[in-house]
Amino acid sequence: MDRIRIQGGRALNGTIPISGAKNATLPLMIASLLTEETLNLDNVPRLADVTLLQHILSNHGVDIMVSGKRAGENEHTGQSMHLSAKNIVDTTAPYHLVSKMRASFWVIGPLVARMGEAKVSMPGGCAIGTRPVDFHLDVLRALGAEIEIEAGYVLAKAKRGLKGARITFPKVSVGATHTALMAASLAAGESVIENAAREPEVSDVAECLRKMGATIEGIGTSTLRVQGAKRLKSARHTVLPDRIETGTYAMAAAMAGGDVTLAGARPELLQEALDVLQKAGVTVAVTNEGIRIARNGVSLAPVTVSTQPFPGFPTDLQAQLMALMSRAKGTSKITETIFENRFMHVSELARLGAKIQLDGDTASIEGVERLKGAPVMATDLRASVSLVIAGLAAEGETMVHRVYHLDRGFERLEEKLARCGAAIERVAG
Ligand code: EPZ
Repeated sequence: MDRIRIQGGRALNGTIPISGAKNATLPLMIASLLTEETLNLDNVPRLADVTLLQHILSNHGVDIMVSGKRAGENEHTGQSMHLSAKNIVDTTAPYHLVSKMRASFWVIGPLVARMGEAKVSMPGGCAIGTRPVDFHLDVLRALGAEIEIEAGYVLAKAKRGLKGARITFPKVSVGATHTALMAASLAAGESVIENAAREPEVSDVAECLRKMGATIEGIGTSTLRVQGAKRLKSARHTVLPDRIETGTYAMAAAMAGGDVTLAGARPELLQEALDVLQKAGVTVAVTNEGIRIARNGVSLAPVTVSTQPFPGFPTDLQAQLMALMSRAKGTSKITETIFENRFMHVSELARLGAKIQLDGDTASIEGVERLKGAPVMATDLRASVSLVIAGLAAEGETMVHRVYHLDRGFERLEEKLARCGAAIERVAG
């Protein structure tokens, strides 16, 4: 298994191109199931999760073509992907595929909406919490599907199609909002989705569904009104930039020091995280190219942060902020409110010398003068990248094991950092 070796202590200077957002790409690819016509996606990142979802969708009968690079494009330009679900040959998503990637459970909405049936494995637990799917099932029930659970599978049936309904979520859920939007787009009549997730990736999917022929109002707000269409049609959509990748490199630059431009990044997608960085003493500037992050010699001030649904501070940047605050001058407090068990990185950061106390859902991070390199391993995507961030500032060598977690969600991470001067390399085997 590949590892990543980092020699800490080098500043970062240069430009990092921001890729298309993983968490928009996945539901956008799934939305291709809603139509017989081709869905064309641009700016698709090259990630292990994208490849895995290609396999999963192929299993349902989706034909997928990825365009090669065009003349004049630089190597970081995202791929173009053409997905054609003309013939859905199988409405079952088996355990061995769904258990590899939770988001593949989301095929359930489009499949039942278009085919009148779906049999999708329950995803099971994961490293960041129990993560149930009850809201997704409530959505489908509200839209008129019959739901049964049998031998670890959800069987959803709506032989006469789905019907628009009012859906009110008890808690904000990104995935269940995707399910509601996609299913309602092919349901008869109007659906109103209340307490919907306002994450930019949800809006990106809604914009794409609009291009495909659904009428959606309230995009970007917590009340979405959807007029379903009888059939959805072909569309072309460009995936929005990845705000979590942006925030991650912003924190990497803040940690290592230096001056980095995050090219193509959109500040409004992560305003809260940028505000937190500014409070910590990091220079943040919006430029024509994207966002510029600089820290030259100034020490980091501690912060108090609580993760929240968008537009609040994202849970997907919590581990990275914790790594950064491990070097602040003083004690920071970070509360995780979205997932109950998203602190697996704490003990690994401690191996590098971080001083972190956990009390329920709150971590107190007492900044230390120096971190020291060590071998570390992580359990999920964002936790692994927090170890890379810590490694950039740790003295000596940090070896990050289980790099496959990183490859799920960060395109060419070591290359992007190395180009800005980090001593980081992938060690094969
Ligand atoms: C999405 O997961 C993201 N994944 C996650 O990113 C992200 O951390 C999360 O949203 C929160 O922003 C993708 O977009 C592929 P939720 P999702 O439904 O949709 C509870 C990453 O690292 N809940 O918004 O699965 C749930 O347990 C990943 O890229 C229910 O109780 O998250 C959690 O406490 C990790 N019942 C809360 O809602 C349900 O049926 C929010 O989860 C569904 C969710």
